[in-house]
Amino acid sequence: MNKIRIAIQKSGRLNEDSLRILKECGISFDNGKDQLKASSRNFPMEVFYLRNGDIPQYLKDGVVDVAIIGENVLFEKGEGIEFVERLGFSKCKVSMAIPKGKSYTNYNYFEGKRIATSYPKTVRTFLEKWGIKADIHIINGSVEIAPNIGLADAICDIVSSGSTLFKNNLEEVEVLLKSEAVLAVSPKINEERSLILNKLQFRIKSVLQARK
Ligand code: PRP
Ligand code: MG
Repeated sequence: MNKIRIAIQKSGRLNEDSLRILKECGISFDNGKDQLKASSRNFPMEVFYLRNGDIPQYLKDGVVDVAIIGENVLFEKGEGIEFVERLGFSKCKVSMAIPKGKSYTNYNYFEGKRIATSYPKTVRTFLEKWGIKADIHIINGSVEIAPNIGLADAICDIVSSGSTLFKNNLEEVEVLLKSEAVLAVSPKINEERSLILNKLQFRIKSVLQARK
């Protein structure tokens, strides 16, 4: 029996809502606290619990067929991967921020500056759009600390409630992307699993409709 392989975030901000939407679709499986893989008992599905940043590559390689992932991660690392549903949760922005009190008029501010981020492609796309040259420093987490320790003049990171920016005395000055969780599909999905995807999408649409 063929099963669709879905990747969801192992831990982090998308994890709970991803599990919830699948459960609301009536699909039951173990929650992945100990295992990295779980099989559903009542739907032809295998769930893989993966690190967010690794998921685009798994989709490209066709190691998983679909994934619940943030649009922002797809933009950053998932070139050529399409999504078929917006899921309405994990809404956030990817924004540029600078220390409070600096005067900011427009993107020219970033010329020659050091920018710390976990989203280099998103930043590069923004800088290239305006013909700005700046140094990008890639860090994987706690990006907002960078200006306070003298590592960077500005940052680009996810803004959700805004509290991390606030606590670090930073001010959002440009929104580069708006993002939410989406259902992304591997370009290598086969025909049989596409049929299972149709069933999954049908259920997801009903759940989203009922939430309105
Ligand atoms: C994320 C993100 C921002 C913060 C945004 O970090 O990188 O720092 O959340 O959320 P907020 O606007 O609601 O404060 P996370 O806490 O996941 O940790 P990390 O950056 O170390 O991965
Ligand atoms: Mg952070």
